[in-house]
Amino acid sequence: MENVIPKLPEEAKCKKCRARGVIRLPSHNTIFCRECFIAFCENGVARAMKKFDIPKGTELLVAVSGGKDSLALWDLLNRLGYATRGIHLDLGIEVFSEASCDAVSDFAALRGLSWTRYSLKENFGWNIEEIRFRIRRAICSICGTIKRQMLNRLAMKEGCEFLVSGHNLDDEAGRLLGNTLRHRTQYIEKQYPFLPAVPGMMPAKAKPLYRLESHELRAYCCFASIRPHGERCPLSRGATSHIVKDALDVLEQKMPGTKRDFYFTYLKNRQAPRSEEREIAICKTCGEPAYMETCSVCTIRAQLLAGRDGGRVEGEDA
Ligand code: FES
Ligand code: ZN
Repeated sequence: MENVIPKLPEEAKCKKCRARGVIRLPSHNTIFCRECFIAFCENGVARAMKKFDIPKGTELLVAVSGGKDSLALWDLLNRLGYATRGIHLDLGIEVFSEASCDAVSDFAALRGLSWTRYSLKENFGWNIEEIRFRIRRAICSICGTIKRQMLNRLAMKEGCEFLVSGHNLDDEAGRLLGNTLRHRTQYIEKQYPFLPAVPGMMPAKAKPLYRLESHELRAYCCFASIRPHGERCPLSRGATSHIVKDALDVLEQKMPGTKRDFYFTYLKNRQAPRSEEREIAICKTCGEPAYMETCSVCTIRAQLLAGRDGGRVEGEDA
């Protein structure tokens, strides 16, 4: 990944320690030196983990795609002293998936961390390229739905109670805005950076990067010498989630702090979900957790087997 941090003038000073400032954070109206910036990122994750009430000794399974966010998350959790293991789902997207897998492998090897690679094809029957070819419509939400269920299932298989993922503030604010624009209240109600476990069915799921912005994580990777796979997924071009995030970026540029205000105000006005409140059904076809009689993945699988598009799959399973 090329150096993406805009250069600051020589006289710029870290607002915390007065050393040479190297990064400006407009939404915090501040400038940091390298060390204070790394401490700021650590603090963002530490605050999230405290809010989620995840004890230090707990082993965490980190869903690592090989991109900047998941590798930064894995690195930050290790700096903070958490015991971690990585899990990588190989989606079978030509060139892109190989490079993603290599980025995870190099990162883990350098730090002596353990991880497991699972192939979507071997575990689901089709890879993403094949699914796209058969279903012939925007693949991103289908891919997200399948990944979510596969990772739940694989985490249970690995005997892990906590699955963490690298969703950052831009992702969460973008998702909230996308659902708000479409008045998808049923999805908005479920959006929270920590979801408790459903015993025997689903691990607890946490997003410890929800306080950090995408550009901050990109900078963190540069400062921490992390070499993520720098490309966006080639199949995600034109995805509505990118359009919504781009719109938020425009607002953020004109009004720094908009993303934080938008998402944090939402969080402040709602309660963290409690495990006894989670209304999870069981898919009658596959036995996986679902919000409806048949889970979204089984709907997708049925379409794949039929070899045709049987209609839109609305997918935000547990
Ligand atoms: Fe899922 Fe690109 S990563 S479609
Ligand atoms: Zn199902």
